[in-house]
Amino acid sequence: MGANDWRTHNPSGSKRVVCTKELPGTRWLEVLEAADCKVEIGTSTDILSVEEIKEKIGDRCDGVIGQLTEKWGEELFSALKNAGGKAYSNYAVGYNNVDVGVATKYGIPVGNTPGVLTETTAEMAISLTFSAARRVVEGDAFMRAEKYKGWLPTLYLGELMNRKTVGVLGAGRIGATYAKMMVEGFKMNLVYFDPYPNEYLENYIKAYGEFLKAQGDEPVTCQRLETAEDVLKVADVVSLHPILDDTTFHLMNTERLGVMKDNAILVNASRGPVIDEAALVEHCKSHPNFRVGLDVFEDEPLMKPGLKDLDNVVIVPHIASATIWTRSGMATLAGSNIAGILNGYGAWPDPDGVLPFLGDNPPKAAPSIVNAEEVGVAAYSG
Ligand code: DGY
Repeated sequence: MGANDWRTHNPSGSKRVVCTKELPGTRWLEVLEAADCKVEIGTSTDILSVEEIKEKIGDRCDGVIGQLTEKWGEELFSALKNAGGKAYSNYAVGYNNVDVGVATKYGIPVGNTPGVLTETTAEMAISLTFSAARRVVEGDAFMRAEKYKGWLPTLYLGELMNRKTVGVLGAGRIGATYAKMMVEGFKMNLVYFDPYPNEYLENYIKAYGEFLKAQGDEPVTCQRLETAEDVLKVADVVSLHPILDDTTFHLMNTERLGVMKDNAILVNASRGPVIDEAALVEHCKSHPNFRVGLDVFEDEPLMKPGLKDLDNVVIVPHIASATIWTRSGMATLAGSNIAGILNGYGAWPDPDGVLPFLGDNPPKAAPSIVNAEEVGVAAYSG
């Protein structure tokens, strides 16, 4: 990384903020400029190493916006602390790349960007579901290869989702939204596993079922099952939405893949290591009617050998949140996290309700600080 790989916004700002990548939109820069920040932005599309980021932090840096591809642990947080750093924000809702314990040890608040990518990510999980179920990518390649000789009763037979059973592992914000979309859109019955019941989701689907019944239609059902295996056994499509931690690493392994229906669909738009990808490759090879849609990979940006050669797998490069509105919104939230802390504002209490930060009169708060209590950032009080 040379000096040419960085550009500076608002060079006269008195506080120095580093953002390791270009972000969509301009609002985030306006927010930081209003907080008197000079912003140094990495223009290279290469993933930065810890060494490169450390060098950029240098001996004076007030805050950093970093990426999910960077390992934010001891080395970087100690460098940031030594440079006088007061805030870090991940440009992502997930923060498995961040050692929050270490940041807390150094008293550095850690921000993330919830609430603007829920529907966007769920929509991508839906896209992957249907691309896999209806063999869209195979059909597209067939057309481009000019192999289509005319309509055939047997060409690219896939799976119907309507009125089947959708399974969700991890019914947090994104999992529950995917579930609602599948239930409402395709009248599927929902089975889910999550250590915590999602009462909102259960009540919502119950009410939707009653609505259908009132129309003289078959109602839909929702059940929280005892184990992940219980879901995997009965679902026609399973979408994975857990956070990645020690308990969910390789959640989908040979055994669990083995209990799924032979013609089931598996979708992952959460984190790659939730699936044992080598085991998945073997499973897909031996189960040609099993179909998969993946947005994330175990060793990103790499894929396990054999994955890309499988016709029954649809693969996209971690773009589930990639809409202009969402990625600009994430930038505004990340910028507002840094600006909020540097301005001495409190932490916004509701990570589900961050949309006011995208409006014309944003609250004087840091929108989402995951360790606010631990590092002593006061709660926003209006
Ligand atoms: C996230 O935010 O965690 C996604 O993986 C990228 O938007």
